[in-house]
Amino acid sequence: MSGHDAVIPMSSQKCFALTGQADVPGDKSISHRSLILGALSVGETRIEGLLEGDDVLSTGKAMQAFGAEVVNNGGGAWSVYGVGVGGFAEPDCIIDCGNSGTSARLIMGAMATSPISATFVGDSSLNKRPMGRVTDPLALFGAQSHGRSGGRLPLTITGADEPVPALYEVPMPSAQVKSAILFAGLNAPGQTVVIEKEATRDHTERMLTGFGAELSVEDTEKGRVITLTGQPELRPQHITIPRDPSSAAFPVCAALIVEGSDVLVPNIGLNPTRAGVFYTLQEMGADLTFENMREEGGEPVADLRAKYSPNMQGIEVPPERAASMIDEYPILSVVASFAHGVTRMHGVGELRVKESDRIEAMATGLREAGVTVEDGPDWWHVHGLEGAVPGGNTAATHLDHRIAMSFLILGLGAENGMSIDDGVPVATSFPIFETLMADLGASICRKEA
Ligand code: S3P
Repeated sequence: MSGHDAVIPMSSQKCFALTGQADVPGDKSISHRSLILGALSVGETRIEGLLEGDDVLSTGKAMQAFGAEVVNNGGGAWSVYGVGVGGFAEPDCIIDCGNSGTSARLIMGAMATSPISATFVGDSSLNKRPMGRVTDPLALFGAQSHGRSGGRLPLTITGADEPVPALYEVPMPSAQVKSAILFAGLNAPGQTVVIEKEATRDHTERMLTGFGAELSVEDTEKGRVITLTGQPELRPQHITIPRDPSSAAFPVCAALIVEGSDVLVPNIGLNPTRAGVFYTLQEMGADLTFENMREEGGEPVADLRAKYSPNMQGIEVPPERAASMIDEYPILSVVASFAHGVTRMHGVGELRVKESDRIEAMATGLREAGVTVEDGPDWWHVHGLEGAVPGGNTAATHLDHRIAMSFLILGLGAENGMSIDDGVPVATSFPIFETLMADLGASICRKEA
């Protein structure tokens, strides 16, 4: 079952020499947070370079439903006129988060400490994903939730009338859970404390501080202890969003596996909690360099240059790096298929509860493409074919944008190309993927359904 009316089967063909500049869109995580924090400030937050993908647009619509004004000024520039911490109105419609787990989880947190109710739904992928990981800690603030088994969507949250601050140790590495708790803590009096054993992306912490909240982070034996003082008055900001490292990984990895390629991907956010895939590729022997390293808007940024790299070696990817590249394992597994030797990825159980079970989705499509893959509950090994990947199969994408794009990139280097059953999900995070790849010289096309 798909989550949309019409599917668009697509295919890609083996090609030569991807060249030129790939201007990928704005960072998805920072885009969601800009809209939500803009809505929780009083006054106009101006955002440049917002990712206008379906996921982020779901968050924008939701912020309007909670009473903020969200205006598209054109050219990636948006304004949010916020209602302030504690100022959310009760929506008179269902909050449809589409495919976006980030929208659902972050917004549940943001409304959980206001005395209002909201009902959240998603597509058939999102409706399968675990939400108890968010509703359990939100109950500590006094919020009530009624969903399907396992706390799955559709579910209704009734925010706390008199919220109390919470202390919570996040049991899985998840920036969405951490962020939901911090957003809930904004409207609770006193200090909310979140402890994460492993560092996950820290955009929420950085941006809360930028909007004027009092927040401290301490590295302790228990992990990262984040303390937020509730009920701040958030100040509207002017935000320039760096380009998305997760989207950048697709043209970068395409260049590494397509003979004769040389691609520049400028202005990529290289926050250490996000950049793990690029260090992994360098360790594998990829010809990948960071040019013009600089700092912009409090985030490290660089231009990435990737060239065809026929001699990459499989490596053991350190499990402690998993959180900093969690969305990049699908495309890494494609590169691993073209490398020499085995790439071993461990400590990645979270991949099984993303938009799809990403280990299962990639392992199945790669095996059908002629690649040997072994997998277990939280690990997988990919045996490289030294550049000679047969391909020629049609991979199921399971409403997962990163699975769809990963297999299309695989086809650019595979002997017999590659097809996918549905390219519609690509628009959730990378709406310009097809034109951007075509401009580099890639042969990716839509097929008649
Ligand atoms: C995200 C966190 C990660 C990531 C997702 C975006 C975020 O999810 O996979 O694409 O913006 O906080 P988890 O928190 O489930 O690891």
